[in-house]
Amino acid sequence: MWKLIRIEELKDPDLATLCLEIEEAVFGKRAWNLELLKQELSNSFSLGLLLKREDLSMGYILGRRMEEEGEILRIAVKREFQNQGLGKLLLISFLKKLAHNKVQRVFLEVSSQNLKAFNFYLKNGFEIIGKRKDYYGLGESALIMVKSLKDF
Ligand SMILES: CC(C)(COP(=O)(O)OP(=O)(O)OC[C@H]1O[C@@H](n2cnc3c(N)ncnc32)[C@H](O)[C@@H]1OP(=O)(O)O)[C@@H](O)C(=O)NCCC(=O)NCCS
Repeated sequence: MWKLIRIEELKDPDLATLCLEIEEAVFGKRAWNLELLKQELSNSFSLGLLLKREDLSMGYILGRRMEEEGEILRIAVKREFQNQGLGKLLLISFLKKLAHNKVQRVFLEVSSQNLKAFNFYLKNGFEIIGKRKDYYGLGESALIMVKSLKDF
């Protein structure tokens, strides 16, 4: 399976429909809509990467690079492809591209209730630097995490 997997840069906002399909499959009610995805992909500072096997979209990552700082806005791998290292592959590819563009550190925000994503980020070298209490609703805080790209 691995040999057939490719990562494509999402340069055209029209490719937002591919992200939408992944968003809806993975996030359900919390999925970003097409308009938001198109708008984000049309920004000059956006970076989106799509994970594909032949014509099948398996996951994607979307973020921003602004001078020395980067940000991860979305990462999603379709359920049937999770726990096989593909999330890590997407994340590392994204971080490498940012490091190549002289980005020094990358931020993200994750729900305190999303333990899988939180542990995934911890395992991949992110650390907590802040907490916004009840940000997503009562009892659901936002954790702010950061990773230095110094050694990338
Ligand atoms: C978070 C997310 C992107 C991680 O993607 P993933 O493809 O499952 O991630 P990985 O496979 O790289 O790593 C996850 C686990 O698989 C394990 N793993 C990695 N490579 C593996 C392999 N070759 N074989 C088996 N397991 C493997 C990792 O050890 C890790 O284990 P853990 O559960 O103990 O942490 C995915 O779970 C997802 O899309 N979640 C829903 C959306 C979401 O919450 N996004 C983040 C919002 S902030």
